[in-house]
Amino acid sequence: MSPFFVLIILSVLSLSSTISLDSKSTYIVHIKHQNKPDIYSTYHEWYTATLSSLSSLSTTDFDSNSNSNPLLYTYTTAYNGFAASLTSQQVDELLKSDYVIGIYQDTLYQLHTTRTPEFLGLQTHSGLPKGLVNETLNKSLYDVIIGVLDTGVWPESKSFNDTGFPAIPKRWRGECESGKDFASSLCNKKLIGARSFSKGFSMAMKNKNDEGSETIIKSPRDTEGHGTHTASTAAGSYVTNASFFGYASGIARGIAPQARVAAYKVCWADGCFSSDILAGMQRAIEDGVDVLSLSLGGTSAPYFSDAVAIGAFAAIKKGIFVSASAGNSGPTPESVSNVAPWITTVGAGTLDRNFPAYAVLGNKKQLTGVSLYSGKGIGNKPVSLVYNKSSSLCTAGSLDPKLVNGKVMVCDRGSNGRVAKGEIVKKAGGVGMILANTADSGEESIADKHVLPAVAVGKKDGDTIREYVGSDPNPTVVLSFGGTVLDVKPAPVVAAFSSRGPNTVTPQILKPDIIGPGVNILAGWTGVVKPSTLLTDTPTSPFNIISGTSMSCPHISGLAALIKAAHPKWSPSAIKSAIMTTAYTLDNTNTTLHEASVGAVSTPWAHGAGHVDPQKALSPGLVYDASANDYVTFLCSLNYTLEHVKTIAQNPNVNCSRKFSDPGQLNYPSFSISFGSNKRVARYTRTLTNVGDANSVYNVAVDGPLTVNIIVKPSELVFGKVLEKKRYTVTFVSKKDVAIKAAFGSITWSNSQHQVKSPIAFTWSSK
Ligand SMILES: *[C@@H]1O[C@H](CO)[C@@H](O)[C@H](O)[C@H]1NC(C)=O
Ligand SMILES: *[C@@H]1O[C@H](CO)[C@@H](O)[C@H](O)[C@H]1NC(C)=O
Ligand SMILES: *[C@@H]1O[C@H](CO)[C@@H](O)[C@H](O)[C@H]1NC(C)=O
Ligand SMILES: *[C@@H]1O[C@H](CO)[C@@H](O)[C@H](O)[C@H]1NC(C)=O
Ligand SMILES: *[C@@H]1O[C@H](CO)[C@@H](O)[C@H](O)[C@H]1NC(C)=O
Ligand SMILES: *[C@@H]1O[C@H](CO)[C@@H](O)[C@H](O)[C@H]1NC(C)=O
Ligand SMILES: *[C@@H]1O[C@H](CO)[C@@H](O)[C@H](O)[C@H]1NC(C)=O
Ligand SMILES: *[C@@H]1O[C@H](CO)[C@@H](O)[C@H](O)[C@H]1NC(C)=O
Repeated sequence: MSPFFVLIILSVLSLSSTISLDSKSTYIVHIKHQNKPDIYSTYHEWYTATLSSLSSLSTTDFDSNSNSNPLLYTYTTAYNGFAASLTSQQVDELLKSDYVIGIYQDTLYQLHTTRTPEFLGLQTHSGLPKGLVNETLNKSLYDVIIGVLDTGVWPESKSFNDTGFPAIPKRWRGECESGKDFASSLCNKKLIGARSFSKGFSMAMKNKNDEGSETIIKSPRDTEGHGTHTASTAAGSYVTNASFFGYASGIARGIAPQARVAAYKVCWADGCFSSDILAGMQRAIEDGVDVLSLSLGGTSAPYFSDAVAIGAFAAIKKGIFVSASAGNSGPTPESVSNVAPWITTVGAGTLDRNFPAYAVLGNKKQLTGVSLYSGKGIGNKPVSLVYNKSSSLCTAGSLDPKLVNGKVMVCDRGSNGRVAKGEIVKKAGGVGMILANTADSGEESIADKHVLPAVAVGKKDGDTIREYVGSDPNPTVVLSFGGTVLDVKPAPVVAAFSSRGPNTVTPQILKPDIIGPGVNILAGWTGVVKPSTLLTDTPTSPFNIISGTSMSCPHISGLAALIKAAHPKWSPSAIKSAIMTTAYTLDNTNTTLHEASVGAVSTPWAHGAGHVDPQKALSPGLVYDASANDYVTFLCSLNYTLEHVKTIAQNPNVNCSRKFSDPGQLNYPSFSISFGSNKRVARYTRTLTNVGDANSVYNVAVDGPLTVNIIVKPSELVFGKVLEKKRYTVTFVSKKDVAIKAAFGSITWSNSQHQVKSPIAFTWSSK
């Protein structure tokens, strides 16, 4: 990202703390829809009238050509209300109206920045197993539409090649909007829609008198790269001879190569405003997408003030599956975002592919790290190695060229960007860099295209190097680069950066739900941005390799499209259940999944149900289904006001006559139980729906800590029909005076063909 964007966003954020009486900000105003007076034929008219009655606004402001129109968006599908640019005085006036439920300041959400289909076992052309695809199903694969809310799209990318695609589904109501550098003819039968929503972003710039807003491309064109990467990961067409400067070469394709893509640009390099996200979600729902993919998130908040949660509720009411990234704030506990139970929350793991690079120290020790460096190496003569404790982060201006010139610098990870460190070393005359992890990043290896020969190593090897430099009077190193290697073991490993549970908004729901590939992912890229803005002398690349839960999320979106094609009648919750209960928790060395930060065994707070297994997700046997009404019952069991429940459900008739005794009663494919000194028993009822063979018998197996007794009744479920539902109860009884704070387990229903596994997280508090 360019320094320019960093500046803009800092000033956007500072808006909230510096509101003077006259300064305007964007607010999302939550309205009781049912209160619309009959004299207004549309909500838009009503909101316009409401706003024009406020002090210091006149009707001429509402001229549609006026730049000062304070009404930015009218929401009807994904939200009830509008977004407007208002002074704090006008906000106070509005709050006095009895049809205003709440007013929220526009918040900034962050983007959660070849081999994956093979690693996931999806080897056929369609992405589905061979035996499953008949002509009918082959056709319906082309009927699924994935809406991607992101930084837009680079339509010229070969990943959107529509050769062989049949006509666009008739039900599609989307559009290919023309705009700056974007002609509507750029869409095709693969990329069937492209729209841009920038009013919230522009208003934030304008309110700050930031001229920068004029340079923002107000069109669906992706000038950042992120949106092209996520869209092509979910549904990119086959591209032969794809690679990133020779790395990860092969055939690139998305998870659902026959699905259609619609891009909704709601984000810029450093973020996305909730007003724009809501407008994009509303449009995508109205346009007719089947899957919504959101590789973005904010800090966790109650669902009634979380734009993504509310927009996603509107989507699932229409049967649209919503997947969202868990966030990149791991391994910090309680960092997971997008935790609403109707969203599928996706964390990130590694692939079995790596880009090894080697550092051979003067004492002959050979250490293996990673790199995507593709230029000339430093040769095979040992070069002096430097580590300066007081400028170990290699930040700008901290390196003394006299010290660095002609040498290889050891830089600690953290604070500034990984590639930026290399740039600083190079400027100071360094010939190479070892990027060494610290405790925060642990053993996670992220490969980057560095500006100079550079090797990234984990914390342990980093410590070895730091110790060596400190103890040898003439430390030296030789760096070399190993290209791309496959079948790396162990894999997958949960990424250190992948955000962790527990869920702070609703502790009774375990989050994240699932992990998918999110480390060093190759996918399509924009033609205007270099792989890094620091790589000034490098050409652009049609592909890029990047990491984040932003990258794992579209893998799940693509899989949801495949499942939808195979099972068009399944609800979003059934699809989520299929993905979760078939996930695996053993890596490719047949060992329990590990996580990268400290190399410890991973838990459901890091990996949810486990790593996605697409083949199995297509045929789960049983599903835990839940309807929009069930989610309303769930919301009614939170201590929200009825108005807030109506807001999220977008249904004025909700009365909360049904509520769960505990939000954990929701028919969810996982369990999260908190015991306290007064609470040692938890009992839940779950309902399983048979989506496998008509006649099938399942038996239960439980796995848990010695401190909890788990009793499931009945222990056998006998199904005689497809879609038949059977209930079971599970009782968790904690021992007295448990000294540990957390433990994990699982409940698995199996027959000869299927294993339907639910993870359980237990916590104990002294309360
Ligand atoms: C095609 O496959 C689908 C899913 O496997 C199945 O439901 C459908 O009956 C099959 N159609 C034909 C014509 O065989
Ligand atoms: C599905 O259709 C595509 C062309 O539309 C064709 O190339 C492919 O072979 C078909 N696959 C199967 C399994 O029928
Ligand atoms: C598009 O795909 C077709 C078939 O897969 C291929 O023949 C053609 O070369 C591709 N076009 C481009 C521009 O890559
Ligand atoms: C494959 O891609 C590489 C790098 O982009 C390029 O140099 C080469 O010419 C391509 N080969 C073919 C057969 O297109
Ligand atoms: C190490 O870095 C500090 C702070 O930038 C600098 O003042 C000092 O000169 C460096 N040490 C050596 C030995 O050059
Ligand atoms: C994996 O380990 C389990 C026991 O933990 C064992 O039953 C199974 O056979 C092993 N599988 C392989 C492929 O080694
Ligand atoms: C709701 O409030 C009641 C009373 O304060 C409390 O007992 C209950 O645990 C709360 N429920 C939730 C889900 O927070
Ligand atoms: C609450 O809503 C349900 C379903 O819409 C309805 O059957 C019931 O009569 C309502 N109860 C009250 C007290 O309004």
